Amino acid sequence: MCRSYEDRPIERSVLLDVIDVASRSPSAGKTQGLHVLELTGSDRDRYWNITLPEERREGFAWPGLLRAPTLLIPFGDPQAYVERYSEPDKSRTGLGVGPEAWTTPYWLVDASMATMALLLAATEHGLGTLLFGMFAHEDAVRAAFSVPEHFVAVGVVAIGYPDGATPRRGRSANRPRRRADEILATPDRWSHDMCGD
Ligand SMILES: Cc1cc2nc3c(=O)[nH]c(=O)nc-3n(C[C@H](O)[C@H](O)[C@H](O)COP(=O)(O)O)c2cc1C
Repeated sequence: MCRSYEDRPIERSVLLDVIDVASRSPSAGKTQGLHVLELTGSDRDRYWNITLPEERREGFAWPGLLRAPTLLIPFGDPQAYVERYSEPDKSRTGLGVGPEAWTTPYWLVDASMATMALLLAATEHGLGTLLFGMFAHEDAVRAAFSVPEHFVAVGVVAIGYPDGATPRRGRSANRPRRRADEILATPDRWSHDMCGD
């Protein structure tokens, strides 16, 4: 994750390629209910004015983050999935009834995978990225940019050319990375855990 940027804009063809790569990630029923809000120039400034007003910037640890020329906000559209799963080849799943019928919200699964592909494609182009949350500002951001009410946000992606500065690392980044053998679980391991072994 990159937290300090040049103010150089991203070439249009590069940004479109990054989004094109994102569009190739897996999508349930090939629904492709992904929408990516692009904020540049005055829209980008408006985002920061809402979430980090001028008077709170002084002590902000990552002033170079605000130079990122573009903010991308990926959204999943639950309604698109409900409609797709109402079509004849999917209706037997029962998922066309409404979003509440889904045990896993595939609109968020798909949009999250597309976001990861986007981050990797950006890196291939020499760009840096930071995925961060909107937290308490989400309602204000949605209202400011007329986001359709039913869209679900993955987070915000700052994207641009890294300026090479090494600002303080995010607090979370200092947490140790879990090893692959800690992450891989077998049913055997879980049944032992449940027995208290
Ligand atoms: C859902 C999500 C929310 C995040 N929110 C923030 C955030 O609000 N601020 C921030 O600086 N980083 C945020 N991050 C970035 C993580 O801190 C970062 O990916 C993690 O520390 C690993 O950093 P590294 O990739 O540089 O090792 C977020 C990441 C995810 C996946």
